[in-house]
Amino acid sequence: MVKKILGFLVLALVLVISACSSDSDSGKKPEKGGENADGAVEIFSWWTGAGEEDGLLALIDLFNELHPDIEVKNAAVAGGAGTNAKAVLATRMQGNDPPSTFQVHGGEELNKSWVAADKMAPLNDLYKENDWMDKFPEALIDLVSNEGNIYSVPVNIHRGNVMFYNMEVFEKHGIEVPTTLDEFFTVAEKLKDAGVTPLALGDKETWEATQIFENLLAAELGTADYIKLFSGEIEFTDSRVVSAAEKFGKILDYVNDDHASRNWQDSAQLVAEGEAAMLNMGDWAKGYFVNDLKLVTNEDFGYFAFPGTDGDFAVITDTFGLPKGVENVEATKQFLTVLGSVEGQDAFNPLKGSIPARIDADPSKYDDYGKDTIEDFKTANLFPSLAHGSAASEGFVTKANQAVNIFVTQRDVDNFIDALQNAAPDM
Ligand code: GAL
Repeated sequence: MVKKILGFLVLALVLVISACSSDSDSGKKPEKGGENADGAVEIFSWWTGAGEEDGLLALIDLFNELHPDIEVKNAAVAGGAGTNAKAVLATRMQGNDPPSTFQVHGGEELNKSWVAADKMAPLNDLYKENDWMDKFPEALIDLVSNEGNIYSVPVNIHRGNVMFYNMEVFEKHGIEVPTTLDEFFTVAEKLKDAGVTPLALGDKETWEATQIFENLLAAELGTADYIKLFSGEIEFTDSRVVSAAEKFGKILDYVNDDHASRNWQDSAQLVAEGEAAMLNMGDWAKGYFVNDLKLVTNEDFGYFAFPGTDGDFAVITDTFGLPKGVENVEATKQFLTVLGSVEGQDAFNPLKGSIPARIDADPSKYDDYGKDTIEDFKTANLFPSLAHGSAASEGFVTKANQAVNIFVTQRDVDNFIDALQNAAPDM
């Protein structure tokens, strides 16, 4: 893990694949394939419904257009952040019934859950054939690599430390964008007095609250020490972690009462409707606001970095790999080739709210939010998301989510810190 995290700091048919590769190298459309219809490519993810599936469907449409003879099966299982999908996937993988390819976060989720268990096939050849080694940022390739082998293809980069806000509500109450946590609490108090819920939360699935806590950790520790926390060089008993937990408790005084019965889309709706002023959510929420709720970026809703994390970027990357034992290997590689191409990424990401993982994608395809985020990514201090699987193993994330869930109801800082510290060996 230390190696992976340090990486952050520095930020087929063979003939058919090579034909596609030379096209994607130059950024042109991959050529139509067609010779290798050896069974449906089953694509496993948790992208169903509002704010989630539009990008995936656009990618599948592009694939169908390029490979009309390869059948695709969309095997998505609903539930934000893979709440249900991950359990279904684990059962299938254990039963040697893997999908052709599945959504997995780059970093520890890929490495500790699947690569370490020897369940994934290396994709080094696919990277070479497509000339991808300098098309993805080094930090991302590092996140999907282990001991010299590359195990998945990143389709996107989501940012997790974004605060979205209702512009009309801010204007009506004379609120300025808060850049520090102190400013945030001042603004939150003012909104609360005016009868507006300051921060929307939907933590029915817990990860939504964990995401707030990870951003508080980055704000309190800075990104370099945040990274050290998850590499075990800093303890969870560190006073700055305690301070993050205290501020987490204070933030919870400003969320909607029914947070435990809402999911992320339901909480985003509170902001869209003006019942709540702000929402901390990964930028899949932007896709939801724009595509599903038909809101206009920078008119209906604005965005700013989670207070205290300006210049920092919580990295969440959705990637797809090739499990061992898959029958239709070549057709699956064709899908991964399209997913990793400029066209694939530019079909998917403008709808998903994320930015392309490739550095040579076309920024003109993205709205103001996307263009800003593409620029920010180049210069920001990157830190891997805990809630979305990059910073620590799935085992630790599960325990951290349990600890967060208990903290949200009990608000006992000492118990919370103890639970995190006790789970640390699982990182
Ligand atoms: C994340 C995933 C995103 C988005 C989000 C909400 O884990 O990386 O792509 O789907 O969950 O479900």
